[in-house]
Amino acid sequence: MESLKDKIIMERLPEHIAVIMDGNGRWAKEKGKMRVFGHQHGVDAVRNTTEACAELGVKYLTLYAFSTENWNRSSFEVDALMSLLTNALKNELKTLNDNNIRLNAIGDLKRLPKLQYDALMYAIDNTKNNTRMTLTLCLSYSGRWELVQAVKNIATEAKNGTITPEQIDETLIGNHLATAGMPDPDLLIRTSGEERISNYLLWQIAYSELYFTTKYWPDFSKEDLYEAIINYQNRERRFGKTSEQIKK
Ligand code: FPP
Repeated sequence: MESLKDKIIMERLPEHIAVIMDGNGRWAKEKGKMRVFGHQHGVDAVRNTTEACAELGVKYLTLYAFSTENWNRSSFEVDALMSLLTNALKNELKTLNDNNIRLNAIGDLKRLPKLQYDALMYAIDNTKNNTRMTLTLCLSYSGRWELVQAVKNIATEAKNGTITPEQIDETLIGNHLATAGMPDPDLLIRTSGEERISNYLLWQIAYSELYFTTKYWPDFSKEDLYEAIINYQNRERRFGKTSEQIKK
């Protein structure tokens, strides 16, 4: 079968893809099922997307798995998402290692129940020497939460005299974010037809290309990812310069 994969220009792959996995609830509702059913199938899309990115050679994949605001959902749904997380960590750990993928997590992880926190730390430690791709799960994460933490830490360092206010620049701020050491996302994908950022990677997506698809997350396939990458490759990234300057 013909695949869109063949149309991807391998020399111009996005180094970092970030995804807002949206639409699990609506996907389930359309099928007359409970929201949790959508999340369960969302895990399959996580697996497919991770596999496709690793196969292509994408170095960083960052997934919005649970936002700070998601704590406000019903305890039934929160509990279900938490058990999906532990199950996925348990079931996929071997696959992550077999495929040389490093697991990472960012967010207010201390808010996670102990079971999930411990399972996460175990999987992170167990995959820490893998080098093919870094898969970052954003859990109990929001961009504003992350910026507040960074500002607090920078203020504390300034107060202690470790840094001076004059030393505060974009690099220093970037180094105080949860994503320190990672390149900014080149491509941000959001599924389900919503066209919002929803408090995701606010600092890091300053120059990311945004791609929206109406597919619900559980239906997002490898071919959908290839389509997003091809769309990205057809854009001209100018970073504030003119088209003529870029082509020089
Ligand atoms: C958004 O759909 C999705 C989430 C809030 C959770 C994403 C979780 C998964 C894909 C499964 C667990 C992930 C891992 C990494 C094990 P929504 O519920 O907001 O859908 P709606 O907008 O249609 O209501």
